[in-house]
Amino acid sequence: MGKPDETFAAFNRSFDFDIRLFEADVHASIAHAHGLQGAGVLTEKEAALVTGSLRTLLLLAKEDPDYMILDSEDVHSFIESRLVELVGDLGKKLHTGRSRNDQVSTAFRLWLRDEVTQLQRDIRSLQSALVAAAERHEKAVLPGYTHLQRAQPLMWAHWCLAYFEMLERDINRLSDTSKRVNILPLGSAALAGTSFAIDREAVAKELGFQGVAQNSLDAVSDRDFAIEFAGACSLIMVHLSRLAEDLIIYASTEFGFIYLSDAVSTGSSLMPQKKNPDALELVRGKAGRVFGHHAALLATMKGLPLAYNKDMQEDKQAVFDCLDTTQICLSVTGIVLGHLSVNETRSREAATKGYLNATELADYLVKKGVPFRTAHDMTGRIVLAAIEKGRELHELRPEEFHEFSNQIGPDVFQALSLEHTVGSKSQTGGTSPARVAEAIKQAKAKLNG
Ligand code: ARG
Repeated sequence: MGKPDETFAAFNRSFDFDIRLFEADVHASIAHAHGLQGAGVLTEKEAALVTGSLRTLLLLAKEDPDYMILDSEDVHSFIESRLVELVGDLGKKLHTGRSRNDQVSTAFRLWLRDEVTQLQRDIRSLQSALVAAAERHEKAVLPGYTHLQRAQPLMWAHWCLAYFEMLERDINRLSDTSKRVNILPLGSAALAGTSFAIDREAVAKELGFQGVAQNSLDAVSDRDFAIEFAGACSLIMVHLSRLAEDLIIYASTEFGFIYLSDAVSTGSSLMPQKKNPDALELVRGKAGRVFGHHAALLATMKGLPLAYNKDMQEDKQAVFDCLDTTQICLSVTGIVLGHLSVNETRSREAATKGYLNATELADYLVKKGVPFRTAHDMTGRIVLAAIEKGRELHELRPEEFHEFSNQIGPDVFQALSLEHTVGSKSQTGGTSPARVAEAIKQAKAKLNG
């Protein structure tokens, strides 16, 4: 082989980023050395020397940050060359029955498996912050919206727990993704499998993989696990972005339901009255970046012939950035929630203005025997009349109700009250304070379980 062009060499190099796989690749290499020992390629003594030296590499890297000189093409060639420095030609035996194609996928999966577990912990922390925010304002009520039009009143805690549920699905999705991450490709070699009698099950067991890839050609070509992970991160970001959007709106002067602390907002350089929700806007903005990585991975893979192609080296930065971005956004969102407070007077006032109890009036009529469609119609006409009078439904006089129906009695005022409007939504999943208190209890049990 001739010398590579310098620009190409730099272009080809992945060590600046796949350095993150260092520990995972060393552990996978140790397991491979044991596999080679079992296959009779390495004697017991040789295997001990190789694995001992690989452990030395871990120590050297930990002690001296400058040890990781970026002179290699990638983390795999770095580890191999440092091993050869330590044990000479014996180190060159380690790559028997292995290709960088099954090696990279093994290290990547090993690394990702542990990161997924950490990410799930980070999601749990945000769920705790949501429960804490719910409990800090357990009595707070705010308007709920559809089409961004005031719809029906909700408990603030119900809003918090809506996001708790989304994050719960995210945790489950990551667990499901993990099942496919946690499969051992090593032993597939370049693409056709290996002729050395390596006990792949034993290697898998040593590395804590749940199974062994069943087709060597698929094993080295497969990046489904990376795409799935980016997809799972994308959905987490969808949830964080919607949460951010809700809070940005609620913090505006027009809504004024919440205060964001100075700790997570900025002033304007020009307009002294402003408090900009930068933290939340960045979370919302970074969602697009994670979706981009997901789309990029799909596009990178779609036209690739089997098996490995260098295009696939692009998977690392995409996945790394999905992880880092999602992680920091989970953490910052938790900080924002920890600092915010609800303006309970203002949000309650908003929840009692704008005919949010119109459905209550229709339901009241239904309970008096009026068919729902008719009740809905009649309520519409009553609301129109109330708008004309410039009053809310509960501000109408009994006679004014009677003009529409003599089935409306004085008990209508109790039905239209905020307490009844919210309190009556008492079925599973509803926003009544009793239900919400129960839901908080269940959420806490999940957090402690
Ligand atoms: N750095 C490469 C990657 O990340 C490792 C695999 C290289 N394999 C090869 N045949 N060139 O994909």
